[in-house]
Amino acid sequence: MKLSERLEKALNKQVNMEMHAAYLYKGMEQYFKENGYAQYAHFFNEHVKEELKHANDFESFIEDVDGHVEFFSIEGVVTEYASPKAAFDAAMEHEKEISASIIGILEIAIEEKHYAAENFLRTYVDEQVEEEASADEVVQNLKLAQGAPGALFMLDRELGTRVPAITVNAPAAD
Ligand code: FEO
Repeated sequence: MKLSERLEKALNKQVNMEMHAAYLYKGMEQYFKENGYAQYAHFFNEHVKEELKHANDFESFIEDVDGHVEFFSIEGVVTEYASPKAAFDAAMEHEKEISASIIGILEIAIEEKHYAAENFLRTYVDEQVEEEASADEVVQNLKLAQGAPGALFMLDRELGTRVPAITVNAPAAD
């Protein structure tokens, strides 16, 4: 099931986007570490691993259908945010961009009747529902705690008891 040039390019772009997400979350992890939020830092550390796995899944899929993998440059990221909520808002926005990108590639796969790519991408549509829900849950809690530093630290500690449960399990590559 050979990939068209357009589909191959879009999938390679997604590899880069997932790598960039890992880097972005590394920056957020650093921000939380430097500001004493150990569990939010841990949350992002787990997400860094998830994003690298996603990048690897896309890479493996391209290889499995005899495509050519390309690694583009990864943009630099910030390690400072105005508040914990600002960092999670940025994460949420990024997840929405990733979801939109995956849906865009899925539309190409459907148009080109590349059923293997379609199946693979649909698992990532499901994955993104979980990714967005995971970030949104924290955003909503942080919204309630805004302006109350004590509440923020309590939320941070509380998250520590739940991180394994809300860390998303990426679909298997093959
Ligand atoms: Fe790989 Fe968080 O999307």
